Amino acid sequence: MKAPSRLRLAHTPTPLLEPRGLDRWLGGARLFVKHDDMTGGATAGNKVRKLEYLLADAVARKATTVITCGGLQSNHARATAICARQLGLNSVLLLRTKDSEQPLSSFAPVGNLLLGRLVGADIRLISPEQYRSRNEAMAEVAREVTAQGGVPYVIPEGGSNALGSLGYVRAMKEIQRQLEVGLAGGEPFDLVVHACGSGGTAAGVVVGAATYGVARAARAMAVCDNSEYFLNVVGPLVAELKTVFGFDQTLPVVIDDSAKGPAYAVASPEQQERIVAVARASSLLLDPVYTGKAFLGLLDMAGRGELAGKRVLFLHTGGLPGLLADGPVFASALG
Ligand SMILES: Cc1ncc(COP(=O)(O)O)c(C=O)c1O
Repeated sequence: MKAPSRLRLAHTPTPLLEPRGLDRWLGGARLFVKHDDMTGGATAGNKVRKLEYLLADAVARKATTVITCGGLQSNHARATAICARQLGLNSVLLLRTKDSEQPLSSFAPVGNLLLGRLVGADIRLISPEQYRSRNEAMAEVAREVTAQGGVPYVIPEGGSNALGSLGYVRAMKEIQRQLEVGLAGGEPFDLVVHACGSGGTAAGVVVGAATYGVARAARAMAVCDNSEYFLNVVGPLVAELKTVFGFDQTLPVVIDDSAKGPAYAVASPEQQERIVAVARASSLLLDPVYTGKAFLGLLDMAGRGELAGKRVLFLHTGGLPGLLADGPVFASALG
């Protein structure tokens, strides 16, 4: 089939680096970090790689308004709003909060919410209950856009459909090229670890890592729900990558839900302290919602002796705006 079109939105290739200062926690593993927290400025993070494909499709369909959803501090919604504006498109963001009855102006304009508001996204707050029917809610907004003479384009939660997942298949190809020129020792990794919130990154990683010989195994660290839930999300995405886009290789999908902490977007005091300790030891900045939990899961594996002698790649998927919005949460961990 013809390769799907792609816009160049991400700043790639992103750096592939070996952080210092973490040896005491690595249990004999050699750790590298793929810095997808540097895929852009305000658009940075894993989502922009998916948006390269999704927004190319939106543009090809002559969309005027992109519609998506997420939590109040959604990185995906923020990246979508900024990239849409860059392309001259409007965006409607359905953002989940238990205080959805409150006016938007009553929410502190910080982090992702600030960035979305800065670029003029039409932000609509919805309750956790309404969020359960998010696809119907987005379809409703799409009908509204059509009725007003516009052309809607709906992007699912996290940009996680097969088209969006292509962004991570391609990211693995980028790593293959980096290994070919000798970066990170030039050898495939034994394991790649990353955060999993809506499943699209995980699907792209297992297909891309196998297709391009980048890693022998992958582990997606769930930050919400559980392993069973994500197996049921990632499995069909992988199947679609094969049937629709013609890929024929994949690593097994492994979802680890042991590091998700108390709840989505809630890090335990211990997790907060460890995120601070990692930053102080290495300068690696991890957010408490996604990358912090995933990275601590990796360190837990190392602590159990499961990574001794292995070459491990951590995919840093971004999240800095959310971290900056969460400063008060770290008050005690900062000492
Ligand atoms: C910073 C960050 N890391 C990781 C993820 C998880 O990626 P995915 O939604 O593809 O599972 C997300 C989004 O959910 C994210 O915003």
